[in-house]
Amino acid sequence: MIEPRPRMQKPVLGDPMTAAEALRWCLVIARKGAGFVSPNPMVGCVIVDAAHRFVTAGYHHRVGHEHAEIDALMNFETLKGHRQLAGYHVYVSLEPCAHKGRTGSCAVALSELKPESVTYLLRDPNPLVAGQGAAILRQAGIATFSAGESDRLTESQKSELIDDAEDLNEIFLWNMRTRGSSNERCFVTVKLASSLDGQVALRSGESQWITSDEAREKAHRLRLEHDAILVGRKTVETDNPSLNVRLRGAEEFRNRAVILDPRAQLLPRLLEDGADEKFNVVRVRGWDHLIVAVQDQKIPAALLARAKDRGVRVLTGVGSEGILDLAHLTRELRREGVQGLFVEGGAGTLGPFFDQNIVNRLHVFVAPLLIGGRDGVGWSSQFGVARLADAWKLKRLRVKKLGEGDSLNMHWTGRLDL
Ligand SMILES: NC(=O)c1ccc[n+]([C@@H]2O[C@H](COP(=O)([O-])OP(=O)(O)OC[C@H]3O[C@@H](n4cnc5c(N)ncnc54)[C@H](OP(=O)(O)O)[C@@H]3O)[C@@H](O)[C@H]2O)c1
Repeated sequence: MIEPRPRMQKPVLGDPMTAAEALRWCLVIARKGAGFVSPNPMVGCVIVDAAHRFVTAGYHHRVGHEHAEIDALMNFETLKGHRQLAGYHVYVSLEPCAHKGRTGSCAVALSELKPESVTYLLRDPNPLVAGQGAAILRQAGIATFSAGESDRLTESQKSELIDDAEDLNEIFLWNMRTRGSSNERCFVTVKLASSLDGQVALRSGESQWITSDEAREKAHRLRLEHDAILVGRKTVETDNPSLNVRLRGAEEFRNRAVILDPRAQLLPRLLEDGADEKFNVVRVRGWDHLIVAVQDQKIPAALLARAKDRGVRVLTGVGSEGILDLAHLTRELRREGVQGLFVEGGAGTLGPFFDQNIVNRLHVFVAPLLIGGRDGVGWSSQFGVARLADAWKLKRLRVKKLGEGDSLNMHWTGRLDL
């Protein structure tokens, strides 16, 4: 999830607000739901008065709880003592839902309250909504616009806001848009921390820590937005990572961990008595949050039975010559409920993800260090192209400085699938 630009001050009651500012604030507050709304999108909603002054806002906090529009309405009621929206304008980062799912239809709720207008940033690709939310509002006589249709936004505001809204919910949007297609797999984000010369570890295995505390904190925020974190067998053996989210407010968050162990070398050790003390990834998450991907081969029945007893999910990813078919694996993971997969390397894991073109987004955190190739391991050492024309090209690129002075790190991110 990428930060909306530019940064905004928190609005207070009565602040004048343009349509672009209202929609940008929707994106800012939508992010508060990160980690808690999947498989739903992150959505924010802002209500302004007839003179376009800020009144209140709301967002989707948690899956199964109120949608952003209803949250904003509840805040509106607390403030005003009623819910009638005549004369008020509603801005929302995603088309209000038409259907009644875990909660009621937001389009129906809004249409009964008769706001002056409703403007939404993105059309909801969910086939249960897709234009029908807007249709419900229009049938109720409410002026309803997508950002593209709004005459309160300039062309450059439209394209910037739409790009930001696409980036914010890229995992949700990818999963909705690829439903039923040959590309029906989870969204794959690759993240790595490297030296200025592209090394992610020493051959000795040492790699902690290359980047700064600030870069690592950002990486933890990114972990929070994904349903599972994937590493190769050797990273578990070398680093014994917990792969958890060490952020205030996210203590109860536990996504799943996926370990690539094609020849089931690590699996027996992960299932042993005491593995929940020895391996941090088991200690922190419990066996029931672990997925181990092995090649399609004869795994001893006793081992599979023990995995089942422990609650460890074993996926057989077909492949050949010891390389897992990652398209197959990411399809399987999506069936397991993983919409967003966060791949954390090392180089032996990253190589096949790039070679098999399974990467949607790349995050590279670069530290001002030179490790050198003699004893270092380059993150791109296991994949490549023969011609420059075939090089991977980042789209919707963002580059951000993290920290200052000698501890300045750079954060590069972009999409590879657009
Ligand atoms: N700086 C960073 O961002 C970062 C992040 C993570 C790790 N690291 C460092 O990287 C080092 C470990 O990296 P590594 O490259 O040696 O190992 P790795 O990527 O952790 O694991 C590689 C192993 O995973 C299995 N594997 C991965 N992808 C596979 C695929 N598509 N098909 C089949 N098997 C697959 C293979 O297991 P088999 O050998 O059983 O076939 C392979 O040898 C450690 O030193 C760690 O600290 C650095």
